Amino acid sequence: MHHDTSLISLIAVGFALAFIFGFIACRLGLPPLVGYLVSGIVIGSYTPGFVADAHLAGQLAEIGVMLLMFGVGLHFSISDLAAVRRIAIPGAIGQIVIATAIGAAMAMSWGWTFGAGLVLGLSVSVASTVVLLKALEERNAVDTPNGRVAVGWLIVEDLAMVLALVLIPTFAVALGGSTGDDAHAGEHGLFATVAITLVKVGAFVALALVVGPRVMPWILRQAARTGSRELFTLATLALALGIAFGSAKLFGVSFALGAFFAGVVASESSLSHKAAASSLPLQDAFAVLFFVSVGMLFDPGVILREPWQVLAIAGLIMFGKSLVAFGIVLALGYPASTGLMVSAALAQIGEFSFILAGLGISYKLLPAEGLNLILAGALLSITLNPLCFAGAERLCGWLKRRKGGNAWGEKKFALLEGELAAAKERAAAKAAAHKTFTPEELVERFPLFAKLTAEQREVLIVHFEAREADPGERIIRKGDVADMMYFIAEGQVEATVGENSFPLAAGDFFGEMALITGEPRSADVTTVDYCRFATVSAPDFRQFLKRFPDIRTEIAALAAERGRMNRQE
Ligand code: CMP
Repeated sequence: MHHDTSLISLIAVGFALAFIFGFIACRLGLPPLVGYLVSGIVIGSYTPGFVADAHLAGQLAEIGVMLLMFGVGLHFSISDLAAVRRIAIPGAIGQIVIATAIGAAMAMSWGWTFGAGLVLGLSVSVASTVVLLKALEERNAVDTPNGRVAVGWLIVEDLAMVLALVLIPTFAVALGGSTGDDAHAGEHGLFATVAITLVKVGAFVALALVVGPRVMPWILRQAARTGSRELFTLATLALALGIAFGSAKLFGVSFALGAFFAGVVASESSLSHKAAASSLPLQDAFAVLFFVSVGMLFDPGVILREPWQVLAIAGLIMFGKSLVAFGIVLALGYPASTGLMVSAALAQIGEFSFILAGLGISYKLLPAEGLNLILAGALLSITLNPLCFAGAERLCGWLKRRKGGNAWGEKKFALLEGELAAAKERAAAKAAAHKTFTPEELVERFPLFAKLTAEQREVLIVHFEAREADPGERIIRKGDVADMMYFIAEGQVEATVGENSFPLAAGDFFGEMALITGEPRSADVTTVDYCRFATVSAPDFRQFLKRFPDIRTEIAALAAERGRMNRQE
């Protein structure tokens, strides 16, 4: 094989095998992720046959992590997290601390250093968002209160791990590791290094949260306005990867953190759903390569060499961690059913564990065998995770049947349910305020647009901006220069010319005459009711008319008709 085709062969063989093994895993009732890991093992250097380039695989995996974290950020909802904060924040932090301590103690009993134990403990303490979301989706439980608690809990874990990823390089030397690739680490005192790191992260987060919401939605909007789907996808990817890469270079924060914040900022835009949809296929593809590359690093021999350690780690992930989580949920005063659900959800490890372990190895904190043990634990726990859920569901059912057995924590749970419902309502209200029409509603109310294809309708809606008005508001003043076109979504208005008024209602539009003729506004338009409009700016509207001459003809005909009416009266 030529050296210069190694990237192509890696991607081709990687995708093909990942598909085959993923399909088999699915057929066996396992998450496809198990299949991706296995395909990685097959093309890895520890098994005979084709060996792919591990260095390239690592870089592709890095892209996968960036896109994955961008997706996590896009779906991150602060109000959802706020609703479950009382259980998710103490729960996740408590569980990380206890599970890390157990993991570290276990590793030290094998004669490992404290630094190695710490990395192992942290890796074992965090569950995989990907595995959790897939498991919840399969059970239709993403939107249930327990499902949302589990997701919130995991987001707190993810955030804590992002912090760990930033801090490990800083503390590497103090923990007995090396400076890794970062020659500057350790140059200053430990305290100064931590301070510099935290200041850098703080500056980055502040910049992302202050500048981001102003710039990013604007860029996405401009891209959407071109009407080209591929430019929009490109804008999304350029922002996700560009911010991740740029922030890593400028601020020294991890790719993962940069991409996560890019997602959080993009989620504020009304176009976030479109951004999520357009980045999803690539996110899926690169996430697969991430799992394949992790599998490539795995040496299956570890199961024969260290069977007891593998079992101990798998036990800690599946039972130790679950028991800790269950105990914390009960201690916080929530019902056993929530505890069981969270425990099952957390009884696995995944992407963050691999990233942490990889980092630990590059800073010479973790022995290579540590990564193998973590990978073995991940493979076992992900494979057996459906069993954990089934067990938790059984126990839940048994508790329900037992009279009074489920009374503990019911009050707190009801409170939580209320808060979650309120958060959902707020999110829905916020979405409604942004939303003007769905493509279907657009055609239903304005038959004018029936000629457009589905995609053209979507593009048109992107141009719309929602506006509300109270009764009696003057929307258009006669003689003014035209700057907007109005579509009435709800309510009634009156166009007044001299003594005459012309009522217009939902499904009508106004403001077209001046835009078409280039003359000043021909009438006063005043609301007579509570109204909601979808508005389009003058340049956008003109551009739209230029692209669709048929629609222009129809609108111009109505404008001419209205003009005639005004002259006659
Ligand atoms: P424009 O001239 O841009 O601003 C005022 C708007 O009132 C005008 O566009 C029309 O949309 C609307 N309008 C003017 N005259 C009439 C009419 N006779 N019937 C209905 N709407 C009218």
